[in-house]
Amino acid sequence: MSATDPEPTAAPPPPPPRIRLTERGPLLVDGPVDLLLPDGTVLHCDRPVVAVCTCRRSRRYPLCDTSHRTHRRPAPAPGPAPAPGPPSFPPDGSGQTPG
Ligand code: FES
Repeated sequence: MSATDPEPTAAPPPPPPRIRLTERGPLLVDGPVDLLLPDGTVLHCDRPVVAVCTCRRSRRYPLCDTSHRTHRRPAPAPGPAPAPGPPSFPPDGSGQTPG
């Protein structure tokens, strides 16, 4: 290394893990990822995107096997309007909740 060599720069930090929520399906997690299960075991997933079951109907739980598609929730009963739900997310996916 000479005095004219540029200073070595640190690598930029990796982007934060990204988890996408779907309407009535799994959580889509950018992989590879380790899933920590309630019993303390670790399920390592090498896939670039891992679908984590949120409906608990999967025969491969905690991984989604698309069983959520065949078990539709019944339509809401007519009646008064439901209470306001959680805030919606902006369409640009910035992860910022509307202020
Ligand atoms: S979310 Fe797909 S099977 Fe549960």
